[in-house]
Amino acid sequence: PGSGRVFSGIQPTGVPHIGNYLGALENWVALQNQYPSVLYSIVDLHSITQPQDPNQLRNNILDMAASLLACGINPEKAILFQQSQVPEHAELSWILCCLTSMPRLRQLPQWKMKSKQKNEGCVGLFTYPVLQAADILLYKSTNVPVGEDQVQHLDLAQDLARIFNNKYGDLFPQPHALLSSIKRVKSLHDPSAKMSKSDPHVMATISIADTPDDIALKIRRAVTDFTSEVTFNPKTRPGVSNLVTIHAAMASISVEEALLQAEGLDTGAYKTLVSEAVIQKLTPIREELHRLRSDRAHLEALLAQGNRRARELAAPVLAEVRHRVGF
Ligand code: ADP
Ligand code: NA
Repeated sequence: PGSGRVFSGIQPTGVPHIGNYLGALENWVALQNQYPSVLYSIVDLHSITQPQDPNQLRNNILDMAASLLACGINPEKAILFQQSQVPEHAELSWILCCLTSMPRLRQLPQWKMKSKQKNEGCVGLFTYPVLQAADILLYKSTNVPVGEDQVQHLDLAQDLARIFNNKYGDLFPQPHALLSSIKRVKSLHDPSAKMSKSDPHVMATISIADTPDDIALKIRRAVTDFTSEVTFNPKTRPGVSNLVTIHAAMASISVEEALLQAEGLDTGAYKTLVSEAVIQKLTPIREELHRLRSDRAHLEALLAQGNRRARELAAPVLAEVRHRVGF
């Protein structure tokens, strides 16, 4: 920390859940105070690798902007912008696509998994890791907070920086992964699975917009096991351990400290304690989110300003790329 440029992106998929918050966004807020230059992008170009309803997508983009601001992203400290409004992303992506071999993309685990699930993914789903590389390199970013599942994609960005530099002369610095102490939050309904917005079960996820009543109900219903004591062992007791993880993260205490507070409580009583910690942490976020969502014009103006600032950084880099390529 202290020098360098941070870049990260999140897809506009509606209001985040507490897994997104604890696994990514809370860290984003910390990083904006640690690095002199920070960019956070709502990556709508990535989101259309899956079918999207246009009006829903427009709403989701604004909801994600409101959510990021409510979680503490400060537009004075981080440039918050919408990827599609900086067309340089798509152009650099095309140029990098022409430096990427088919086998290099075919071997990526996400493609293997997603194309198998969908039987046939679109071409965009195949090349989106190159767009990710373009997102990062366009700002000559040096530090990229990523989840474990994205490490191979950052490897590709590193390779493409090297390939471009070798072919056209030094331009891009090597981007490094920032793997913060990642807190994996599990589904409240099935603690063997991660908490995910694609989980159809209504009790599985807690959104940052959930009311205190919603939160208390979901935690009360959270699946645990038949042992009433509170202990921490994610392998043998994933349900109760997930509650301990959530409690510790929300109250900003260690797992040991959370277990100390759980001493003498059965899981039922402990759930009340966990609810209180979650409600206390999320209440100001939910209130701010509610306030921001009610003022669409303000959100649009904030995003427009972020888009302009991002584009000011991107344009000279892309101009240099075009020149080197021979355009
Ligand atoms: P989802 O799995 O709900 O579709 P995304 O894949 O859009 O979420 O992830 C957005 C960010 O949130 C990523 O940085 C990802 O690593 C993080 N994240 C998603 N789910 C969790 C989880 N259950 N626990 C911790 N972090 C998570
Ligand atoms: Na996902």
